[in-house]
Amino acid sequence: MDAHLLAKYDRPVPRYTSYPTAPHFTGAVGADSYAAWLGALPSDTPASIYLHIPFCDSLCWFCGCHMRVVNRYSSISAYLDLLRREVDLVSRAAAGRPKVRHLHFGGGSPDILKPDDVQSLVDHLHGHFAFVDDVELAVEIDPRAADRPTIDAWAKAGATRASVGVQDFDPKVQQAVNRLQSFDCTARAIDGMRAAGIGRINVDLIYGLPHQTIAGIQRTAEQVIALAPDRIALFGYAHVPALKPHQRLIDERALPDSAARWAQFEAAAALLQQAGYLWIGLDHFARHDDPLAIASSSGRLRRNFQGYTTDDCETLIGLGASAIGALPQGYVQNLVGFKDYASVLRAGRLPIARGIALSADDRRRRAVIERLMCDRRVDLAAFGGDDLSELNRLAAMAADGLVEIDGSRVAITDAGRPFMRTVCAVFDRYLVPEAGRYSRAV
Ligand SMILES: C[S@@+](CC[C@H](N)C(=O)[O-])C[C@H]1O[C@@H](n2cnc3c(N)ncnc32)[C@H](O)[C@@H]1O
Ligand code: SF4
Repeated sequence: MDAHLLAKYDRPVPRYTSYPTAPHFTGAVGADSYAAWLGALPSDTPASIYLHIPFCDSLCWFCGCHMRVVNRYSSISAYLDLLRREVDLVSRAAAGRPKVRHLHFGGGSPDILKPDDVQSLVDHLHGHFAFVDDVELAVEIDPRAADRPTIDAWAKAGATRASVGVQDFDPKVQQAVNRLQSFDCTARAIDGMRAAGIGRINVDLIYGLPHQTIAGIQRTAEQVIALAPDRIALFGYAHVPALKPHQRLIDERALPDSAARWAQFEAAAALLQQAGYLWIGLDHFARHDDPLAIASSSGRLRRNFQGYTTDDCETLIGLGASAIGALPQGYVQNLVGFKDYASVLRAGRLPIARGIALSADDRRRRAVIERLMCDRRVDLAAFGGDDLSELNRLAAMAADGLVEIDGSRVAITDAGRPFMRTVCAVFDRYLVPEAGRYSRAV
């Protein structure tokens, strides 16, 4: 990696899982707008549901998710009651009965739920929303919490895919981030899920963690390849202690610099590709026969809050504290704090904290950014409007070899791939560089 390019382009930039990005949501969109948006959804509109379970048994110091550590199950039971109320309110507002194709349980660690609660939550959803017969039900799994009854409960509730957190198997890295997780524990959980009928397995890895080395991440990649997951996400560690104060527990002196981070990514990516995985977008890998790889090869890949997806529903209903929803009209985010989330729901109102209604310009820029994040190329002419100022700014990147410009067509080169988010940021009308808000590009 060219040090000059790193110095010039490795800036803090959003991950573009949405556009506009969440920091630009405002109180101008609240519960009333959301209710009106839900009410305007056409009958039987295809929809996805994201349901947030923000609890874990212990804290990984790198964690950037909305979660909290709980010792008593009563807090989780109380939260599940609130979730059911939210399901009631949202389904009542969505009078056109959206038809759910994808159901994603994220966290936190949804496998912290007791088996009976898994079934009753899924039953409650089925009682309030219409589902297609072959609904994809994906769940994020911390293998350390995934005992046999828990796995069986998720399989029985219809789980078709599990995303398993690994991060890195190197014990020194695990010590440095407070996440001790053996290969055997992980393999047991994955074998158990497959035996129970959860056929599709994703694995999450992170590069750029404290004390991580190229040799260590290569070994982790080899161990993960031996587990034969369908998809692998290789996320860059987002170190944002201003937003996540517990990340201060991480020794910053042990963090690799930008060049070392990229070398780690490349080393792991090379092994994954040699093992037959297709590198998709920024940070995903999938077996060539996986639907994500097929969508990527045919220009149908999409980007949403979970990263890359085959889900092309225009309606994503977010449920649970901090959950983000995307409707044809715009984005909404639920209250993040438990107390606020609980009190608003107990008062019978939708727990929306903020959101944004999409303008025509937002939609156009969103489409351009999504195509660049997914396909690495876009024809600006296909999205109309006058993009001259963007093309002028991209010219400097073209001179540095990050992009190629051919008339209105822009393509991110192999050399530019590490800076994909920086290229997309050129089209972000809202972006104001602000210390501590975003993680580095590489
Ligand atoms: C909700 S967790 C997955 C399920 C489960 N909680 C676990 O950790 O095993 C989502 C994933 O986000 C990633 N992640 C969390 N914090 C991150 C950070 N600061 N930077 C990059 N990736 C992060 C991890 O790879 C993690 O597996
Ligand atoms: S990475 Fe997963 S298990 Fe660790 S604290 Fe975050 S959500 Fe919980």
